[in-house]
Amino acid sequence: MNSYVAVVRKIAINLFLLLLSVETFMQLIQHQAIYFSDLSISYGQKQCIDDFNATIYYGSRIGIIGRNGSGKTSLIKILAGIIEPNDGKIIAPDDINVGYVPQLIDDGDILSGGQRFNKRLSEALSLEPNVLLLDEPTNHLDVKNRKALISMLKRYSGTLIIVTHDRELLRNVIDTIWHVANGSVTIFNGRYENYLELQKHKEQSLESRIRDLNYQKTQAHETLMKEQHRAKNSKVRGEKHIKERKWPTIGSAAKMSRSVTTAVDNKARILHNKQGVVEELQSLYVHEVLIPKFNLDAVVLGDKTIVNISDGSCGYNGLLIVSNINISLNSMEKMIIRGDNASGKSTLLKAILGDIIISKSGEWCFPNIQDIGYLEQHYSQLDANKTVVEIIYAVMPTWSHAEIRDHLNSFLLRKNEEVNLPTQYLSGGEKVRLSLALIAARPPKLLLLDEITNNIDLETKAHLIQVLRSYPGAFILICHDNDFIHQLAIDKYYQINNGTFSIESR
Ligand SMILES: Nc1ncnc2c1ncn2[C@@H]1O[C@H](COP(=O)(O)OP(=O)(O)OP(=O)(O)O)[C@@H](O)[C@H]1O
Ligand SMILES: [Mg+2]
Repeated sequence: MNSYVAVVRKIAINLFLLLLSVETFMQLIQHQAIYFSDLSISYGQKQCIDDFNATIYYGSRIGIIGRNGSGKTSLIKILAGIIEPNDGKIIAPDDINVGYVPQLIDDGDILSGGQRFNKRLSEALSLEPNVLLLDEPTNHLDVKNRKALISMLKRYSGTLIIVTHDRELLRNVIDTIWHVANGSVTIFNGRYENYLELQKHKEQSLESRIRDLNYQKTQAHETLMKEQHRAKNSKVRGEKHIKERKWPTIGSAAKMSRSVTTAVDNKARILHNKQGVVEELQSLYVHEVLIPKFNLDAVVLGDKTIVNISDGSCGYNGLLIVSNINISLNSMEKMIIRGDNASGKSTLLKAILGDIIISKSGEWCFPNIQDIGYLEQHYSQLDANKTVVEIIYAVMPTWSHAEIRDHLNSFLLRKNEEVNLPTQYLSGGEKVRLSLALIAARPPKLLLLDEITNNIDLETKAHLIQVLRSYPGAFILICHDNDFIHQLAIDKYYQINNGTFSIESR
């Protein structure tokens, strides 16, 4: 009986798999693939992607990952038909219907970040796209909106291409990885976790190879030293014999000359080997991995209270957004404000900053604007037409060009073509790094960070955690990224719920 059930189950499973593959097959013949042929993207001297070839089958779920500024947004913009590649082409079928939501950085909208994204997503979905392109879609989303987006994307049956640094999104909806790095795109057909495993494995074997080569190098050097020492001694002995007219025996003369020749041969051989080792090492290090090195400093005034708000409320043109605001923060305390999208978190930060379009009531006491370091979630404090260097020069006119370049260097804004670029062309992550460089140039009394983790790559995020952990001053942070928050030392947790400010019960 049991075996009968097992056979029926097996037939049922096979039938199901067959139906699935028939459906996939039908989709594949109904929808032709999209082809990338010898695609290259560059901006002036900067080569982002070189000679990229790929086939995107209908229903693929591709996650584009890579460091800030590597060219991910440029790649997805080419697919969306917004920019043209410098070389190569895309061959797409006639029935392609693209829905595209760009990386939202600043588009001068009055909506909150999360609202902006949802509006753009609804517009894109209303076209009933069979190819959906999303650039950093979870940036501004609160926990509920993230969940809703992820489950919608899981159900979406068309071709999905997402640029993201968000590991949860990658783990849940992606089955193919495109990794943009050092001018090329590595394609991995498989899930994100498997890709990470593979990367880890590669890294480990690379490290062990480097250790091995270093060992060989040291050994070679030691042997060479010994041989040279022996050869030198033999020569000295030979010369001494000649001086004292003690002619060496035929046997010992031959031995000496053999040993010198061996030493010379060895030397040549070892030098040759060493050169090989060095070249191998160099080839392993071809792709330098850049890690940011910046630090943030503060003006610390001990336990002096620097923000004091009692019975405060704030809003726009008489429209009340947040009430019951009671905050007391000394010059070393770290505070976080959480709340759903559009609950008024950014409005509260702008009120603390003294923004005149925000009306306030109650008692408000906070530092002068020039003593506040502010990272705005859409980076609007970066003048779009000024270059990276000019942005820093505007606040630090006494710094020499070399000092400015040195400062920018630790924020990974290093090359001439990067620092001479008007900020409007910077990638999302580059804008974050420049905003932080601007804050670091003048240590503030208070730091206001609005959605700091948006747009930054994993390396910058890891570095920022270290920076904020050792930050000596006060900060107020808005962040939806719980992983990030858990790694910081926060003194005060607040929330905004239905327009009311309160201490978060933890
Ligand atoms: N119009 C332009 N002119 C000059 N350089 C540009 C232009 N557009 C982009 N770049 C540069 O090209 C590089 C790639 O930009 P892109 O926006 O594609 O990066 P990204 O991988 O999406 O980065 P992020 O993760 O920070 O969003 C960046 O260094 C950027 O400064
Ligand atoms: Mg981008």
